[in-house]
Amino acid sequence: MVAHSTGGVVLSLASKRRSIRRYRRDSINIGDVLYAIKAALQAPSGANMQPWRFVVVVDPKMKVRLREVCEEWEKRFHESPTLPAWFREWLRRRGITWRKDFLTDAPVLVAVAAYKKAPYARESTWLAIGYLLLALEERGLASLTYTPPNPRRVAAILGIPEDYTLETIIPVGLPGEDKAKEPRMSLREAVYLDSWGKQLPEGVEG
Ligand SMILES: Cc1cc2nc3c(=O)[nH]c(=O)nc-3n(C[C@H](O)[C@H](O)[C@H](O)COP(=O)(O)O)c2cc1C
Repeated sequence: MVAHSTGGVVLSLASKRRSIRRYRRDSINIGDVLYAIKAALQAPSGANMQPWRFVVVVDPKMKVRLREVCEEWEKRFHESPTLPAWFREWLRRRGITWRKDFLTDAPVLVAVAAYKKAPYARESTWLAIGYLLLALEERGLASLTYTPPNPRRVAAILGIPEDYTLETIIPVGLPGEDKAKEPRMSLREAVYLDSWGKQLPEGVEG
């Protein structure tokens, strides 16, 4: 088996991209956000139902309302005794607390909703989100797939109808932190050949 590795645009963007949780308040070009959504609209979806909808939030008052309701529920989540110890430690190491400053610091938030009645609505919507993240990276914009613990409350604030689920709120802006990429698996760790457990030959790096 021969694998050719010439670094392409997609791999380069995907490798560079990381979740950013601190944002500069500087404004950004909304055209870049719309460009990224345009890329997201090209994603495949169950029966091509395109179940995704995007609410681009720039109104500071709306951002404050979203932050308030998210933080209220984040406090409960972070204080919950049922939170597994490993996850608590994982959050602590990254300085992730109930505070969600990025919801008001980032100049733009993109809320993404999925139409519940469409086939594979959530799978399709998250595929589109993947496209969106790479396109934002291409435009030099930082992002985070923040998943609020109380999506229904958030959806209500944004006026999202009942037959849609709020999947994520993505802050978009210029990074306010310098952050290393979280480690990723190698091809040989993640990929089997022909059947489960049968590793790729050594030296295959793709
Ligand atoms: C479905 C999904 C939900 C996530 N939810 C959150 C979240 O609520 N808060 C957060 O800070 N990060 C969230 N993340 C970001 C992950 O923690 C992050 O992608 C992961 O640690 C890898 O880091 P990287 O994106 O910097 O490479 C989420 C990521 C995904 C894909």
